Amino acid sequence: MKHFKTGIIGTGFIGQVHIETLRRLGNVEVTALADTFNAKETAEKLNVPHYFSDYKEMIDIMKLDTVHICTPNNTHFEIAMYAMDHNVHVICEKPMCITIDEASKLTAKAKEKNLIGGINFHNRFYPMNNHLKNIIKDGELGEIFSITGNYTQDWLLYDTDYSWRLNSSESGNTRAVADIGSHWMDLAEYVTGQKIIAVNADFSTIHATRKKPKGIVLAYSEKNTDENDYEDVKINTEDNANILFKFSNGAKGSAFFSQVIAGKSVDINLQIGGYKKSAEWHSMSCNNLIIGKRDACSEFVEKGLGTVHSSTKPLIAYPFGHAEGFPDAFKQSFRDIYHHIEYPDSSHEHADFDDGLHEMILCQKIFESNQKQGWVDVP
Ligand SMILES: NC(=O)c1ccc[n+]([C@@H]2O[C@H](COP(=O)([O-])OP(=O)(O)OC[C@H]3O[C@@H](n4cnc5c(N)ncnc54)[C@H](O)[C@@H]3O)[C@@H](O)[C@H]2O)c1
Repeated sequence: MKHFKTGIIGTGFIGQVHIETLRRLGNVEVTALADTFNAKETAEKLNVPHYFSDYKEMIDIMKLDTVHICTPNNTHFEIAMYAMDHNVHVICEKPMCITIDEASKLTAKAKEKNLIGGINFHNRFYPMNNHLKNIIKDGELGEIFSITGNYTQDWLLYDTDYSWRLNSSESGNTRAVADIGSHWMDLAEYVTGQKIIAVNADFSTIHATRKKPKGIVLAYSEKNTDENDYEDVKINTEDNANILFKFSNGAKGSAFFSQVIAGKSVDINLQIGGYKKSAEWHSMSCNNLIIGKRDACSEFVEKGLGTVHSSTKPLIAYPFGHAEGFPDAFKQSFRDIYHHIEYPDSSHEHADFDDGLHEMILCQKIFESNQKQGWVDVP
């Protein structure tokens, strides 16, 4: 197995998850990190040997095989371009960037340079989602006619909650859609094998103005700030998105994406309706899958080597009864991406730059649909 040297760019909430889960792979050494804020402190805290405030310097000096881009969305394009221009493979957080044009250029650059580009749509890597994909492919549910669900959160409920994500110049045209809806749409398409071909969206924003702290705020930060430390800012991204979908096999669907539903920290739900059976996966009980039947007891399938599809077994790292969750899905996503880098001709399960580009097109078409208040086709 090849040994890789990687550098992590952006070490806020998710960058630190990347560092922790990469170390569990065994063949990836986190050699360096780069962050414009607190790079030295983070490197010392996480025992990363080299740190930089400028990612370019890190790429120039460190002779890395890969970089992981874990910075705000509007920086992904320039960082990924710089890395690929220096022949470094890129593992990029979702969404891939903020425009279709950027995503197209990155996809073309990876092909031109013969580099692997991975997008961390990690929900594909919960074993029960992989199992669901495999049983749908085998025809167990019958033909799929309905794909519905939601992705809800509550961390932006109050007008004093703030993140760079609220500002479209940093997050892109959409926020709830690009930030969390992209996960749901990627998962829905991945497990069903169907592509979204038309969207009809309706957005709402519950706080037209929010109180932005004057200092730096990391995602999910619970730091309290004095009232005088805030400034009022206008919000130009959606808190809620209700969307209808048409899928490529004729299935119809709908989803609700929101970052302001009290009590929903991270709540992803996917329901698939087939002519024989239905299936439901829920992130809060991610080791289980419910298979709905009309003429018999519904099945409650628990993750285990003896219960999942034979093709899903490699995604299970711990025996029956031992839960695997969010960081485990990251580990499996990275394992697949690094396997793909080592064996570029092998098949892969991870989202790649083509999937990242598709997701950027979906976000843009959903944005246009909300503006138009009607159906928009997805090319
Ligand atoms: N896959 C997932 O489930 C998941 C979850 C959370 C976030 N994300 C994605 O990860 C990315 C980061 O999100 P986050 O929640 O970690 O944000 P965050 O605000 O917690 O952290 C971002 C970090 O990037 C640093 N940074 C900003 N610009 C930089 C630059 N030019 N060079 C180096 N460092 C820079 C900031 O100082 C900060 O430490 C986003 O694209 C987000 O959509 C993915």
